[in-house]
Amino acid sequence: MVIAVVVGTRPEIIKMAPVVRACAARGLPYLLLHTGQHYSFELDGVFFRELDLPAPHHNLEVGSGSQAYQIGAIVAGLEPILARERPDVLLVEGDTNSVLAAALTAQKMGIEVGHVEAGLRSYDRRMPEEINRILADHLSEHLFAPTEHARGILRAEGVAESRIHVTGNTVVDELLRQRPRAERPELLERFGVRRGAYALATVHRAENTDDEARLRNVFQGLADAARALGIPLLAALHPRTTARLEALGLEVERAVRVLPPLGYLDFLGLHAGAALMLTDSGGLQEEACTLRVPCVTLRDNTERPESVEVGANLLAGADPARIVECARAMAGRPRDWPNPFGDGRSGERIVDLLARD
Ligand code: UD1
Ligand code: UDP
Repeated sequence: MVIAVVVGTRPEIIKMAPVVRACAARGLPYLLLHTGQHYSFELDGVFFRELDLPAPHHNLEVGSGSQAYQIGAIVAGLEPILARERPDVLLVEGDTNSVLAAALTAQKMGIEVGHVEAGLRSYDRRMPEEINRILADHLSEHLFAPTEHARGILRAEGVAESRIHVTGNTVVDELLRQRPRAERPELLERFGVRRGAYALATVHRAENTDDEARLRNVFQGLADAARALGIPLLAALHPRTTARLEALGLEVERAVRVLPPLGYLDFLGLHAGAALMLTDSGGLQEEACTLRVPCVTLRDNTERPESVEVGANLLAGADPARIVECARAMAGRPRDWPNPFGDGRSGERIVDLLARD
């Protein structure tokens, strides 16, 4: 039994780390395959180093480009590798172009696909991620749903019950494992903030970066929220966002302290001590909920409604006044919600389910 584990971007590296570790701990042979969709050290290499992951067995190095280019290049690059290695199952995680392309290649070659984080839906078909996750789910033989809610979605789409397994989300595994290393006493000092007295933000979704009016509004909302709460706001920006701000000549107000993308340990340590998270990230909605840090989501919809339902998250969209209103409402909220995303043993569960079959 050989499991091929595919990664392509920052969140996939983080969320597949527990799966790789579970394979290693059980002595199961595995192949780590990197599409190279992310390649800058701060979106890629830093996570391999900090999470003690082995170097990938193969890296397709597809890099940046249009969606069609990325998908085409991954399909073409992966086929000869899979033909040579013939893994028994190929695992993908999440909803990126790497996920769709790798799942499609394996399925076409008669290799079973397992989808980690199956059954998420935003019901917004303008998002590339929504198309990727729908297709990946329906290309898969093994669907590892993080929650009962996700299982219900798959069931309603006609996926056979026997193929769906509720495992929790592997993001919780990695967070719980790394938290003690991440919360170092000197960290907050290094960033010039005090525990519980600052907000943290990220922005990278295409729907926000590629629409000038929306991008301006999001940054206006962040600056207004920081002023309204009277606390510093640190924004660790994806290179996509920095490039767009530069191209538009858009100056970020001083109330927002712009940072480069951070490594996992610095980011997690800052997140754990924050009063509030403001983000359009998918994984950060889950991490904030797990850390019991209130979250304001800079989107009009979410495929993670569980965090909204337990009271950990509010959808603010991109309207500055609404961002401020949500920030005020969330900053003072009691942090006593249950975590709907699992118990931190999802990676082990996924590998045990595969090894059993
Ligand atoms: C991708 C995923 C998104 C995920 C995000 C995680 C798709 C459609 N999007 O978005 O779902 O939330 O990863 O972070 O798959 N760039 C660099 N260095 C890199 C990679 C990218 O500078 O290592 C810059 C390039 O200018 C590139 C841009 O970021 O054009 C966008 O990269 P891309 O891989 O197309 O999508 P992400 O925005 O990273
Ligand atoms: N993250 C990080 N450094 C940063 C921003 C995010 O390590 O500067 C981590 C974060 O802790 C989370 C993951 O990246 O685990 C989320 O990835 P991202 O927001 O890029 O993608 P999404 O989850 O939206 O697909």
